[in-house]
Amino acid sequence: MSIRNRNIHSLTHAVFSYLEKSKNHSIGVRLVLRRLSDMNLSLAQIIDTKPVGTRHQIILDEAINEIDHPSLDNIALKLKEAKEYLVWREDNNNYYDKGADLGEGYRKCNLHTVLIGPDACGYYNDDFILGFFMLGPWTLYRDHRHPAPELYLNLSNRSGWRLKSQDWHDHSAGSFVWNEANSLHAIRVYEKPFISIFIWLENIGHPCIVVPVNDWAKVEANLKNRSYASVRLKNLARNRPED
Ligand SMILES: [Fe+2]
Repeated sequence: MSIRNRNIHSLTHAVFSYLEKSKNHSIGVRLVLRRLSDMNLSLAQIIDTKPVGTRHQIILDEAINEIDHPSLDNIALKLKEAKEYLVWREDNNNYYDKGADLGEGYRKCNLHTVLIGPDACGYYNDDFILGFFMLGPWTLYRDHRHPAPELYLNLSNRSGWRLKSQDWHDHSAGSFVWNEANSLHAIRVYEKPFISIFIWLENIGHPCIVVPVNDWAKVEANLKNRSYASVRLKNLARNRPED
């Protein structure tokens, strides 16, 4: 077996182990584990693909090197070892219909690799996706929804999330975000790149839909001005949610 296959196998199992240890953290984790338990994730099942690099290599390396939460050590190590063997892709309307109003930030710097899925560099599956997802600094990933229920595991130390049109909240490394089918969610990325594991549990054949919210211009202006660190401190001092 090749080094490539061994690395992809080890990375997949590092993610699997983390999920197993986190069974009690989210209904989403338990549902993912149920799907994974039906899959053969042995070394022999890994499919042959040629690695594909990315124009965002520097940002990707930074995102991976910034993973420093102790609980994520093994995932970070295995990702460092495997990254050069993976197929890195940008979303060129793979997940959205052409013309979707995703905004400049997302289009400028988004990146993913799929370990399990229809287009995976690890294991083939026709109705499940597990991969890594990255966004560049100061990006708004606008509010969107999709029929696939989705679990995120945040690897970055700080990322902003808006779930179901509620207030924005920051999430830390090792946290999960569970998006039920068609549940709205948005992400804002601060000074460090955002990196996460994302999982689509089923119904993966339907595109994401962007749903306009009237504060996008304001959030994007704040990101452009790099003003979120101070906004956050001010709001904490005032004891009210961020806007
Ligand atoms: Fe999503």
